Amino acid sequence: MIKVLFVCLGNICRSPAAHAVFEYEIVKRKLAYKFIVDSAGTSDHHEGDLPDSRMITHGKKRGYDLCSLSRPFEVKDFTDFDVIIAMDNSNRSNILKLDVENKFSDKVLMFCDFCKSDKYEEVPDPYWSGADGFEEVLDIVEDGVAGIIAKYD
Ligand code: 4NP
Repeated sequence: MIKVLFVCLGNICRSPAAHAVFEYEIVKRKLAYKFIVDSAGTSDHHEGDLPDSRMITHGKKRGYDLCSLSRPFEVKDFTDFDVIIAMDNSNRSNILKLDVENKFSDKVLMFCDFCKSDKYEEVPDPYWSGADGFEEVLDIVEDGVAGIIAKYD
């Protein structure tokens, strides 16, 4: 079993999208038995919330079910998960601030490093954007999820 955790800021837009697309793909490819997936935010501001309704709507149009509840990243995630995937650079640096003995940095990876396209280095925060921003997140997430599955399958 490979345990994968996606992390963004609020855990209501980008990491829930990655979480849902990953779940969808592993079920479709009959690989669900190989993976455990979860998502978290570096902030606890939206703790307990469903994903942003705009992210849910855009995901649903592509067949994805965004149903996770926001929870903050916690120190025990460093040991509970094999791979921790940050959506942007500030997410990664906020995660690493909690790794006070610098023991886990090797497992904290950047989402866009798994993308075939080299257009993005970070998944842009869609929170203050329009519909295009949410579609852009899903395009990047679909690309990266395929790369993650290919790497760890
Ligand atoms: P996420 O997006 O990190 O992709 O979940 C955001 C969600 C909430 C806020 C910012 C980004 N916020 O400022 O409340």
